[in-house]
Amino acid sequence: MLTNLEHVGIAVRDLAASNELFAKLLNSPPYKAEAVEAEGVTTSFFRVNESKIELLEATRPDSPIAKFIEKKGEGIHHLAFEVDDIRAEMQRLSGEGFTLLSDEPKRGADNKWVCFLHPKGTNGVLVELCQEIQEGIN
Ligand code: CO
Repeated sequence: MLTNLEHVGIAVRDLAASNELFAKLLNSPPYKAEAVEAEGVTTSFFRVNESKIELLEATRPDSPIAKFIEKKGEGIHHLAFEVDDIRAEMQRLSGEGFTLLSDEPKRGADNKWVCFLHPKGTNGVLVELCQEIQEGIN
């Protein structure tokens, strides 16, 4: 089950500058900065009540974020929905005809299992499913 809009991911060219900008906008500093080496990104997270904003900066030219910015410029990169059982949702959505970008959940930023849906099947919006990692349980 999708339980809420967990965060909105925004692709930025200069994370340090965007951290300052969003800290002003949201009137609160980022609570976390984290690199996801496998994806070639550095991220930072801001809380907005129950939701979050994730800023993503590429760390190398072949990073998906570098390619996104090259094609579309900075801006909204993905919507992330929290799910209570990521494998069950992956199976449900695949059965509904959506294309998953991985067969297995991957370790993402902010202590989450994540899986993305191909934007071709979702009106051009990259959708992330995420579930909090609870060691020893899932
Ligand atoms: Co995300």
